[in-house]
Amino acid sequence: MKGKSIHIRINETILEKFEEALIYEGINKTEFLTHAIQNFCSKVESEKMNDIKRQYGTSTHLQVRIDTHVKYEEKRIDLDEMVINLLNLTNDEKILDIGCATGAFLTLLQTIGHKGQLTGLDQSPKMIEEANKKSQQKNLNIEWIIGDARKLPFSSNSYDWVVARHMLYHVPDIQKTIEGFKRIIKPNGGLVTTTNSRNSLPRIMELCNNMLVEFGFPERISSAAPFCIENAKEILSSTFDSVEEKVISNSLVFEQAEPIVNYITSMFPSLNIPDNTDLYTDMKNWLKIEAENILLRNGKVWRDPKDVGFYLCKK
Ligand SMILES: C[S@@+](CC[C@H](N)C(=O)[O-])C[C@H]1O[C@@H](n2cnc3c(N)ncnc32)[C@H](O)[C@@H]1O
Repeated sequence: MKGKSIHIRINETILEKFEEALIYEGINKTEFLTHAIQNFCSKVESEKMNDIKRQYGTSTHLQVRIDTHVKYEEKRIDLDEMVINLLNLTNDEKILDIGCATGAFLTLLQTIGHKGQLTGLDQSPKMIEEANKKSQQKNLNIEWIIGDARKLPFSSNSYDWVVARHMLYHVPDIQKTIEGFKRIIKPNGGLVTTTNSRNSLPRIMELCNNMLVEFGFPERISSAAPFCIENAKEILSSTFDSVEEKVISNSLVFEQAEPIVNYITSMFPSLNIPDNTDLYTDMKNWLKIEAENILLRNGKVWRDPKDVGFYLCKK
């Protein structure tokens, strides 16, 4: 094996302890350090792969999924309308949309006449850039901020409503993040949050996992699992005094392979696979053949159940 020597400075007491521990365990210093560095590199690589920065570096993938839901839902559920009904606005409330993506929700609110101050926050610079551009084109007055839901740059009791749609499952420390939301909400204000069931779209998820196994990658676990319909009420209730839940069951219905393939392809950046155009093309071709075969076996109809949960939380 070809090697390079590295020189590091380390506190003498720690070094003595380290050497004692190595002798006790009968381990060679170079081997131990090589192994530790390898483990550290694989951990960082894997985290980078699963990073939301990779998933939401552009709006394209999210938009494919949003468009698929709008076009192929069995019954049309308008998420914006549902959230607006829950907020029951008088027109001048100060609202913060966390994980606002390209800002469609706040843009709609102001377009339909909401007069209170609106702020959208997202970790993705690209999403915020698009939100800004769109609202400038429409001459709207909305504040857009690149930021992290875990470290909100706002003073306590400053918003009437915080909205966090389909984003809490991405946050590593959900409980602390929700406490941060509560801190900035005014005494009579609240939080409206939405999420999916961890079992939503089982057929799409099965096809995706079969593809991963076929190409030698680990299966995917539901991205909604950390904050999903199955646990959201319990998580929210430990911070908010009152939590109302409404769950709507629906399905996506496909008669062609193409939208199924596009949906799964839009998830590639959230899968633990390398960015590789040739690999992506091979996977896409594999998905097309599989989806077409499954459709043929099932009378050309692919029905995939999904649930969406709405949560109205008051301080
Ligand atoms: C599934 S999208 C939902 C977008 C939008 N809320 C909607 O309902 O269409 C999740 C969004 O949350 C953002 N996000 C994820 N984690 C975040 C965090 N810790 N802080 C801020 N934004 C975050 C992502 O960048 C992405 O735009």
